[in-house]
Amino acid sequence: MSLFHHQIVFCLVFGLSVIFTNGASINFDVGLESRIVGGAQAEEGAIPYQVSLRLNGWPFCGGSIITVFHIVTAAHCVPGINISQLTVITGTNSLESGGETHGVVEVTSHESYVGSSDYWKYDIAILTLAAELTVTSLQSPIPIATVDPPDGAELLVSGWGRLFSESNAVPTKLQYLWVVAINNTECRETLREEVDDVHLCALRGVGSAVCSGDSGGPLVYNGTLVGVVSWGRSPCASGVPDAYVRMSLMLDFIERVIGTAVSK
Ligand SMILES: *[C@@H]1O[C@H](CO)[C@@H](O)[C@H](O)[C@H]1NC(C)=O
Ligand SMILES: *[C@@H]1O[C@H](CO)[C@@H](O)[C@H](O)[C@H]1NC(C)=O
Ligand SMILES: *[C@@H]1O[C@H](CO)[C@@H](O)[C@H](O)[C@H]1NC(C)=O
Repeated sequence: MSLFHHQIVFCLVFGLSVIFTNGASINFDVGLESRIVGGAQAEEGAIPYQVSLRLNGWPFCGGSIITVFHIVTAAHCVPGINISQLTVITGTNSLESGGETHGVVEVTSHESYVGSSDYWKYDIAILTLAAELTVTSLQSPIPIATVDPPDGAELLVSGWGRLFSESNAVPTKLQYLWVVAINNTECRETLREEVDDVHLCALRGVGSAVCSGDSGGPLVYNGTLVGVVSWGRSPCASGVPDAYVRMSLMLDFIERVIGTAVSK
């Protein structure tokens, strides 16, 4: 069976024909009946680094503010994207109201990112905003983790990915979920052997996981960004780990794009 029957990335299905102009052969219908459950609704301002990416106004992925000029997201969210149709919403937990809309002047994907044929390794991209955002209690950067979370650490993941199994509807309000960091040895045994050093795995359990629409969003340990939502086995929330981008191995890329050192 080919890879894409097992593996999904967590991008929302609408807009994909526009986004994936390269005709990526991923079956995005797989797993879309699944959902995040066991999550909870975030209070306004509780996750001030979370952003919503929009294509012609439609939310399709998440991201995190890492500087007042830069957003980190998943590379699979933005291949071939037309940046004049891309906006970033900051400073609101609601998909419908509030917040600020920012234009994007540059999208930089990791040079080693290939996609499904390379098991989604280096699935990271940085968006450069058209104008500096103002830091407030509702929108602020999160520090990048320079070290990995310990095995068993409780990590916070958040997003506007799918909530309901029988509906394509996305939640209006930002959802969050605590997941547990597991090491790659254990992850390879339960997820796939293709789990690489550049992946960081986390798991809650059956019925609680990230799903379509959460891609690019933040995985946080002790107030630092340790991961970016990337991929998992279909259907979502089936009780196997999900794979995130391991931020501690992306520091060179991030420093090159943002032009300053990631504070240690
Ligand atoms: C990008 O989007 C803009 C606005 O929708 C459009 O005018 C332009 O033709 C698009 N460019 C490409 C290369 O598709
Ligand atoms: C990985 O985690 C498992 C389960 O907690 C543990 O038994 C194993 O020793 C760990 N392996 C490494 C290399 O840390
Ligand atoms: C969490 O971060 C704080 C600094 O913000 C640090 O002092 C503390 O040691 C960290 N805790 C753990 C468990 O890493």
